[in-house]
Amino acid sequence: MEKNMSLHLVFALGCLINQILLCMSCIQDERIALLKFKARLEDPHHLMSSWTGEDCCKWRGIKCNNQSWHVTTMDLRHEHLYGSVSNDRRLSGEINPSLLDLRHLNHLDLSSNNFEGIRIPNFFGSFTELSYLNLSNAGFAGRIPTQLGNLTRLRYLDLNSLSDTLDHLFVDRLQWISHLSSLKYLDMSGLNLGDASDWSHAVSTLPVLSVLLLSSCQLQWLPSSPPSINVTSSLTTVDLSNNQINSTFPLWLTNSSSLVSLDLWFNHFRGPIPEAIGNMTSLEVLQLGANDFVGPLPRNIGNLCNLRNLDLSYNNINQDTIIFSYIFSLCIGDTIEILNLRSNILSGELKDWLVMLKRITVLDLSKNSLGGPIPTSIGNLSSLRGLYLSNNRLNGTLPVSIGQLSELNDLDISYNSLGGVVTEAHFANLSKLEDLGMRLNSVVFKVSTDWNPPFQLQLISLQNCHLGQKFPSWLRTQRYFVALNIANTGIADTLPDWFWELSPVISVLDLSRNQITGIIPPILKFYSILTINLSSNRFHGPLPSLPSDVEYADLSNNSFSGELHSVVGEPLYNLAQILLSDNLINGTIPPSICKLQVLQVIDLSNNFLSGELPTCWAELRNLFAINLANNSLSGVIPSNVGSPCLIQVLHLGTTISLEKSLPL
Ligand SMILES: *[C@@H]1O[C@H](CO)[C@@H](O)[C@H](O)[C@H]1NC(C)=O
Ligand SMILES: *[C@@H]1O[C@H](CO)[C@@H](O)[C@H](O)[C@H]1NC(C)=O
Ligand SMILES: *[C@@H]1O[C@H](CO)[C@@H](O)[C@H](O)[C@H]1NC(C)=O
Ligand SMILES: *[C@@H]1O[C@H](CO)[C@@H](O)[C@H](O)[C@H]1NC(C)=O
Ligand SMILES: *[C@@H]1O[C@H](CO)[C@@H](O)[C@H](O)[C@H]1NC(C)=O
Ligand SMILES: *[C@@H]1O[C@H](CO)[C@@H](O)[C@H](O)[C@H]1NC(C)=O
Ligand SMILES: *[C@@H]1O[C@H](CO)[C@@H](O)[C@H](O)[C@H]1NC(C)=O
Ligand SMILES: *[C@@H]1O[C@H](CO)[C@@H](O)[C@H](O)[C@H]1NC(C)=O
Ligand SMILES: *[C@@H]1O[C@H](CO)[C@@H](O)[C@H](O)[C@H]1NC(C)=O
Ligand SMILES: *[C@@H]1O[C@H](CO)[C@@H](O)[C@H](O)[C@H]1NC(C)=O
Ligand SMILES: *[C@@H]1O[C@H](CO)[C@@H](O)[C@H](O)[C@H]1NC(C)=O
Ligand SMILES: *[C@@H]1O[C@H](CO)[C@@H](O)[C@H](O)[C@H]1NC(C)=O
Repeated sequence: MEKNMSLHLVFALGCLINQILLCMSCIQDERIALLKFKARLEDPHHLMSSWTGEDCCKWRGIKCNNQSWHVTTMDLRHEHLYGSVSNDRRLSGEINPSLLDLRHLNHLDLSSNNFEGIRIPNFFGSFTELSYLNLSNAGFAGRIPTQLGNLTRLRYLDLNSLSDTLDHLFVDRLQWISHLSSLKYLDMSGLNLGDASDWSHAVSTLPVLSVLLLSSCQLQWLPSSPPSINVTSSLTTVDLSNNQINSTFPLWLTNSSSLVSLDLWFNHFRGPIPEAIGNMTSLEVLQLGANDFVGPLPRNIGNLCNLRNLDLSYNNINQDTIIFSYIFSLCIGDTIEILNLRSNILSGELKDWLVMLKRITVLDLSKNSLGGPIPTSIGNLSSLRGLYLSNNRLNGTLPVSIGQLSELNDLDISYNSLGGVVTEAHFANLSKLEDLGMRLNSVVFKVSTDWNPPFQLQLISLQNCHLGQKFPSWLRTQRYFVALNIANTGIADTLPDWFWELSPVISVLDLSRNQITGIIPPILKFYSILTINLSSNRFHGPLPSLPSDVEYADLSNNSFSGELHSVVGEPLYNLAQILLSDNLINGTIPPSICKLQVLQVIDLSNNFLSGELPTCWAELRNLFAINLANNSLSGVIPSNVGSPCLIQVLHLGTTISLEKSLPL
């Protein structure tokens, strides 16, 4: 009896499970629609291989409603299908109208694919349930169909085409947008809206629009009065960067108390920044760089108590920084993390206001007219990661307190009038320092020969600092630098052998204008080097052969001897300039010189070269400056060398002639 009961129970349960399984598979018509859609796609890498079997709700990128089992989501975003980004794994092909059978589609994402050249189908306007449509960077071309205006439930519309290589998607009128009354998020960045003069009217009728991204749209104007109350009270993010808007700061925007992020970077905004900007109290990011703003920083900007990132770089902000002591004493001083005022007309000194920037992580004041010393209080800015003060008139000595900035990654104080002594203490806690720019200051380095700095630098730029006569031994601890410039630093020493073993990734090396002696190894181990400048030193021995990628090589004014073929014997397809003047090079000019196909400048003057010139000069199509003076060469340079109109400098020895005169 009991056994029977449990059998019944098992049977009943089995039925139930069976039934659930039956219902829990996708709807036949929709499955067929998806298969037809798939059939017209090109998917050579089988990203959609899971699209087989009965239950289309389990296919990759497909989601169904868990009660009606209608397909609600189709997400074929490249990254979601492939897992990462790969340019040759993108879907392409056609969009089959069979998709229309997915009447309950709510979320459609075809972004980052390669539907190159095909139009956005008009029938996308029939997905009446759609709330999310992402066609960004998917390669679509042609006019955006106005039918999209039928998608009244749409909340997210992303048509960003900034990374599409062919920008063939366009709109001439945007009136249809105004029907999208649920739209919260609109991204049309990269589309040419230059002809859509109604854009601001259309956009301003969207009652709940929160995010508006129209970067790089060739926009030329902005309405000077508020488009509507609704839009100024709902917007949180506005990006109009990289357009051609020629306007004063739109005052109505200051009424927008909900705005969190405003990006007007790289337009033609002009005139002063209004004091009313202090009313935009929700602002966290204010990006006004690369415009033509003039006048002072408004005092009220100090009232933006949420502002974290302020960029006013590349404008004409003309002000004595004395006012900063007031502005940063307001609440902005407690919140600001990134302050970029690079390339303006700021004067005055870095003073007590600096230490008011309690959370500052990136401070860029380079390319201004700031004078006076760097204050000791800089050591209190303990979150500082980037400090850029180059191209000012700062004087005095570098405070030791800078060595406390343990988060500091980039330090650039180049092109100032700083003096005094720099010691190990100045770097005591700079274990995260990667970029050190101090060039064009008169700073004297006093560090011990066994100094083991706490950092591993990538960029080392110390030109014109005084490093002492000994070759700086601390450089031996630096194994990954990409650029090293220690030109004119007073070194009068032999280049140590370990130097050439240091950094496998170096691309720029400048040791010029020192008194460094030694022999260069015949093959340089700096395989990725692009620029090498050893000029005006006391190197001797044979010329090294240059690494194959090198673009600029200046070995002039040394005592290199031997013949030329070692340096230009190998194919150097990128070599644009080679300067070997004032050495002891002898022998002839080998014909292999004509294999330097991108060569623009060659200076072999003041050497002991002899013999006939090679006859192949005509192969050097890009050449525009030759200097062969003060050798014992003879021969003829044909008039068709290089691009004739480019020949600017031409110094030939007395025994060398030209076939006919060049248009100099
Ligand atoms: C069904 O979906 C709704 C909303 O998508 C969710 O809240 C609910 O938890 C789901 N139910 C089941 C059983 O998964
Ligand atoms: C659309 O997809 C891209 C990636 O292809 C993504 O970066 C973007 O955030 C998406 N847009 C929205 C509104 O989710
Ligand atoms: C969709 O939009 C087009 C053009 O904007 C219009 O002609 C058509 O009637 C609309 N269809 C529906 C169902 O609203
Ligand atoms: C503002 O939005 C409301 C609905 O949120 C709407 O009733 C009103 O007409 C809109 N006003 C304007 C000027 O668009
Ligand atoms: C911007 O407009 C003003 C006034 O119309 C004009 O003087 C100025 O040249 C324009 N600037 C640019 C960059 O087009
Ligand atoms: C700000 O909005 C008020 C009404 O809310 C309006 O009277 C005023 O003119 C607006 N200010 C600007 C600069 O648009
Ligand atoms: C800014 O807000 C203040 C009140 O906080 C108000 O008096 C002033 O008119 C506003 N300025 C503008 C230009 O709207
Ligand atoms: C340093 O700069 C300040 C401000 O520009 C100037 O007054 C002072 O004379 C300068 N000091 C020196 C030694 O050049
Ligand atoms: C900087 O910090 C030190 C403690 O580390 C403190 O004594 C000094 O007052 C601070 N300076 C300023 C200007 O806040
Ligand atoms: C370096 O930092 C450590 C902790 O981060 C601290 O204890 C030490 O005093 C600092 N040294 C200097 C010279 O600032
Ligand atoms: C090499 O350095 C010298 C002196 O510093 C400079 O004049 C020259 O322009 C540099 N050459 C190249 C190719 O950068
Ligand atoms: C070049 O000079 C070296 C000595 O520096 C000499 O041995 C060699 O023979 C010379 N070569 C020619 C071709 O004059």
